[in-house]
Amino acid sequence: MNDTNNPLAGLEEWEDFLKERYPEADAPTATATTTNPAKKKEEFRNYEADARPSVREFYRLNHRHQTYEFSQAKRKEFLGLNRRQMSVWEALEYLNTLVDDSDPDTDLSQLDHLLQTAEQIRHDGHPRWFILAGLIHDLGKILCLYGEPQWAVVGDTFPVGCAWSDRIVFHKFFTDNPDFGQPRFQSRLGVYQEHCGLDKVALSWGHDEYLYHVVKDYLPPEALYMIRYHSFYPAHRDGEYAYLMNDQDREMFKWVRAFNPYDLYTKSHQRPNLAELRPFYDDLIKEYFPPALRW
Ligand SMILES: [Fe+2]
Repeated sequence: MNDTNNPLAGLEEWEDFLKERYPEADAPTATATTTNPAKKKEEFRNYEADARPSVREFYRLNHRHQTYEFSQAKRKEFLGLNRRQMSVWEALEYLNTLVDDSDPDTDLSQLDHLLQTAEQIRHDGHPRWFILAGLIHDLGKILCLYGEPQWAVVGDTFPVGCAWSDRIVFHKFFTDNPDFGQPRFQSRLGVYQEHCGLDKVALSWGHDEYLYHVVKDYLPPEALYMIRYHSFYPAHRDGEYAYLMNDQDREMFKWVRAFNPYDLYTKSHQRPNLAELRPFYDDLIKEYFPPALRW
């Protein structure tokens, strides 16, 4: 996996960096509109300086290549959902073939991490669709198995086609993005209308948007927002881009923020007991999804 287009030793490196940047003590609550609004830009600079070279290179590639046109092209390429038909379990098992060699301390698989997330949500007494969102939220990472580069699968997402918030980490790398020279993409609103709603806004392409389209007919809107926007850190952790959101987005982002701590902080070294958990999750999946989904 590790090559010039895939600088991370594994996707975990990006998530470890997120945890350094958004420590658990600053975790959002369901009712907060943003976290630490007073946090200054300079603090982000430190995270940039301390980032591993692989993480820095990952963001350089992400910010260089995620243009408006690239995001549109990937939508066309993947959102016809004509690649395969799989059940949720088949997709979980398929994702599990993605080996992450970045963390020598743990041999936990992608499936273990997803089960840990779901189990923590279940433990805290949340609704069944919330647990299910936890179980499946990273299934879009199968894009890596189709041969997509890391910077087009993971990374904090951001709107394309309008000005980049200066709260986006490694903002300086955007000067190498071809959209930097395009005035129509560089104004505050760019190609969008004030409060047009995020559904009309193209974000940088990645695993969130892909999975959203696979499951959008089957889950309640709260779960769909969690899935579609869980990597949109500039909005759900930094409170940016409020001017693109409509009333529904503002309401639903409470759920995106409620989900984020489970995504970021529940990973442990303890492997979940799959055989024990399987009946519960089989029932849960059956409650919401047909036997096969189009991917
Ligand atoms: Fe994710």
